[in-house]
Amino acid sequence: MTTGVELGQPQAQSVRSDEDVVRVRQLVRAVAVSVKLSLVDQTKVVTAASELARNTLVYGGGGSVEVTVVSNGRRKGVQIVFADSGPGIADLDLAMTDGYTSGGGLGLGLSGSRRLVDEFEIETSAESGTQITVTKWSR
Ligand SMILES: Nc1ncnc2c1ncn2[C@@H]1O[C@H](COP(=O)(O)OP(=O)(O)OP(=O)(O)O)[C@@H](O)[C@H]1O
Ligand SMILES: [Mg+2]
Repeated sequence: MTTGVELGQPQAQSVRSDEDVVRVRQLVRAVAVSVKLSLVDQTKVVTAASELARNTLVYGGGGSVEVTVVSNGRRKGVQIVFADSGPGIADLDLAMTDGYTSGGGLGLGLSGSRRLVDEFEIETSAESGTQITVTKWSR
């Protein structure tokens, strides 16, 4: 966690189905509104969350999402953690490349999501699965 960042109570949503991905979108939208993100920034963070939750479902075999209001003293933001216990991402540089997919996707989920948020961190291993943390700050 970044030093000097205060956290609110996380709101959790499991990711086991397409309907759960919709619930993640709704939860992220509501929290983004509550921290007064602009409409454009709301849409950016909701789009990123949708892509990452879909990856959690499809490649991670399901998992969980936690959405938290964060504050660094000057600004508020929304922080989202996506966690699964799947196989992990063997080649992260490759996976982050525009257009790379191991399935039948467009290969834009990870790379596109990174561009849509302010902070993006991935921890992944075959043993522990994949955990991705993203943050979008109000401006
Ligand atoms: N949670 C995850 N666990 C394991 N592998 C993952 C995970 N998320 C992504 N990957 C791997 O990274 C690749 C790239 O992911 P990305 O979301 O960019 O593309 P995609 O899901 O294949 O296609 P798109 O999202 O554009 O429909 C995936 O094809 C998959 O191999
Ligand atoms: Mg994807």
